[in-house]
Amino acid sequence: MADLEEGRADRAGIQDRSSGRLGRAIRILRERGPLEPFRLVRRHGLSASTAFVGRNIRHLMADRLARKWDRDHNVDTAGSIQLAGLQVVGPHRDQGNECLCTSPKTFDFIMRSLPADLSDCTFIDIGAGKSRTLLLASRYPFAKVVGVEFAHELVEIAKRNVETFRDPAQKCRNIEVVEADAAAYEFPKTPLVVYFYNPFSKQVFDIVIQNLVASLRETDRDCHVVYGSSSHAAIDWAKPAILTSGAFEQLATPPMPGFLDAVRTIDYAVFRYRGKNG
Ligand SMILES: C[S@@+](CC[C@H](N)C(=O)[O-])C[C@H]1O[C@@H](n2cnc3c(N)ncnc32)[C@H](O)[C@@H]1O
Repeated sequence: MADLEEGRADRAGIQDRSSGRLGRAIRILRERGPLEPFRLVRRHGLSASTAFVGRNIRHLMADRLARKWDRDHNVDTAGSIQLAGLQVVGPHRDQGNECLCTSPKTFDFIMRSLPADLSDCTFIDIGAGKSRTLLLASRYPFAKVVGVEFAHELVEIAKRNVETFRDPAQKCRNIEVVEADAAAYEFPKTPLVVYFYNPFSKQVFDIVIQNLVASLRETDRDCHVVYGSSSHAAIDWAKPAILTSGAFEQLATPPMPGFLDAVRTIDYAVFRYRGKNG
């Protein structure tokens, strides 16, 4: 089943696992013959094989919707981009996760749990990938939108996207892409919404959260943290890592619906900074 997970170079020349998934399935069937699906069921069992096919159909649909969103908005954000082979800043390459973007429906759903007035807030996407989330956030009235990304090629694509993005609903045009290791990033002293979509290991996450808490303790201000995770059970360690600092409280949020434009359903949590005296 791993053959389907290979990938090919996308239009920017970087390895994209989403690209050509259907073509690879057809090639495998041609090479191994029409009985291959039955062999798969015998080898892996019926429920694992059904789950595998379901996952791949969902992936194909979500990927098509992502590429349509890109065409409609004149950008390049889709795909599952592998970090191997990219130029990375800092010592945490091995702790980083592949670049996979948040779906528009998922993002809009998460935004419903944030305060209505965002006009003095900076939105920060930690591990911004090709900038999909920055562009989605720019459709809300944030004062500024910032993406922190450690892979040089992704930063270049993200910067290009910011220039070429077309959306009549865009409200914030103050968008910055910072090429940096998130562990070394210094948060701006403005009210914040800090967004994580499963960017890296707990080890790096702990450093980033410590830096964020230190920054908030030094300059008291509003801050919400959003943590989303899909492919890994990261939310199970991220929640306690945020809460043990004592600086945040978790907000009640509705469960994420299974949106078809998401490769996988994101499990998410939203936290509010209690303030210096909280
Ligand atoms: C799952 S993607 C999320 C992309 C984007 N935030 C979104 O929601 O569409 C994770 C991203 O985090 C980046 N990343 C991983 N480790 C990082 C680090 N230490 N510093 C900055 N970026 C990192 C990866 O290169 C990848 O682009």
